[in-house]
Amino acid sequence: MTDLATFNPFDPATLQCPFPHYAQMRDEAPVMHIESMGMYLVTRYDLVLQIIRDVETYSSRFGGASMPLPPDDRAKLDEVMADGYPRLATMLTADMPDHTRYRRLISKAFTPKVIAELEPKIREITTRLIDAFVADAEGGTGSMEFVEQFGVPLPVEVIAHALNVPDDRLADFKRWSDDSIAGIGTQISIEERMEAERGVNEYQHYFAAELEKRRTEPQDDLLTNLLNARVDDHDPDIEDKRPLDMAEMLSMVQQLLVAGNETTTKLLTESMRLIAETPGEWEKLRADPTRAPKMVEEALRLTTPTQGMFRISTKDHELEGVHIPKGARLVIVFAAANRDTSLYEDPDSFCPERDNLRDHLAFGKGIHFCLGAALSRLEGKVALEELSRRIESFSLPASNDFSYFPSFLLRGLTRLDVDFVVDDSAKASV
Ligand code: HEM
Repeated sequence: MTDLATFNPFDPATLQCPFPHYAQMRDEAPVMHIESMGMYLVTRYDLVLQIIRDVETYSSRFGGASMPLPPDDRAKLDEVMADGYPRLATMLTADMPDHTRYRRLISKAFTPKVIAELEPKIREITTRLIDAFVADAEGGTGSMEFVEQFGVPLPVEVIAHALNVPDDRLADFKRWSDDSIAGIGTQISIEERMEAERGVNEYQHYFAAELEKRRTEPQDDLLTNLLNARVDDHDPDIEDKRPLDMAEMLSMVQQLLVAGNETTTKLLTESMRLIAETPGEWEKLRADPTRAPKMVEEALRLTTPTQGMFRISTKDHELEGVHIPKGARLVIVFAAANRDTSLYEDPDSFCPERDNLRDHLAFGKGIHFCLGAALSRLEGKVALEELSRRIESFSLPASNDFSYFPSFLLRGLTRLDVDFVVDDSAKASV
């Protein structure tokens, strides 16, 4: 048991396995003030949901998910950022009515049709990645490092394809994505943050040029759609009918780029770990690939790659008997809510048979519900279908130490070594 009075979410051991701490907090202090961080952690499912739904009391204008900085460091960072476009608060960090405008506009560019049409490309990339590690297998057995050889490249290539980024810029694209989230939920030096902001400037200049190009040479792509997205003149919910300006578009594309990479990498990797550690699941999937979506859903619940997100209190109020002052920063811990025993029997087990599989909060809920949920579900489904078709069995060798990135907001394994046996009858790619 942890002494909650001295609990530190950044403690390295806690970051490796926060779940027993979350369970204790849900029971003893579901709204917990962590003085050292100046934050309130909220861990119970009903309370997390209450906060997500009450957008008047809980604002999403947390202005970048990083910790506040000392003034000197802030000034250094501002100087670097002056070489780029303004970092605007759109979607994730915006409130209504601005948020409504952004969501309406992006929904004209990132449509269900655009996402569904990505499926053949997702399957093609998945197949190519599997071909590569299967080709190295000798006598039908092989080893691979899943994060680098599959978990990272799949979502990066998919979102790069959706944003029409050429293959020779893929490495830059991944670097820009990493730079964009460098300071989130973890402690890095000011020098590292400045370096990351330089990467964000580079990203902005690249995409600004691509967007400008499309003003004169429109293409059939997401960037052109975004450029041409207009609010319906008669939409009563939106007063500000302006099309998106460059800084707004860059902020929105950056969110597609960032959210689409790290989170899905972490979901794919953790899915493999969960399946490997749950006897019989791989065999069941191979016998019936239509189980894939259920397995993805249960992996989302248990993994919850976005462990938590910030909200800012807009007024003095009480929450579950705890006084929350105006301006206080709260962390809604989706990962803790997703193991709440009031909702889930045996919450720590991987059980794709649950009948409330989709109640989890891994994608949030309400107005900020994850814009890329359909895409990452699709990537997870295709990945499991194709991997189970080609790989007869797999195991996690002793070389794994199962260490997680030291972030309390984004949870994922740093690497996952996998030993596998190829299904001979399915060697050829589709
Ligand atoms: C497993 C993968 C993913 C997870 C776990 C995840 C998780 C989340 C969560 C929890 C939120 C809500 C945050 C809040 O309430 O403050 C969110 C929002 C968002 N996600 Fe995802 N996400 C994933 C994949 C993606 C992908 C693939 C994209 C885009 C291509 C994406 C784009 C976004 C955007 C733009 C928002 C902000 C929406 C808004 O505020 O209106 N996400 N995501």
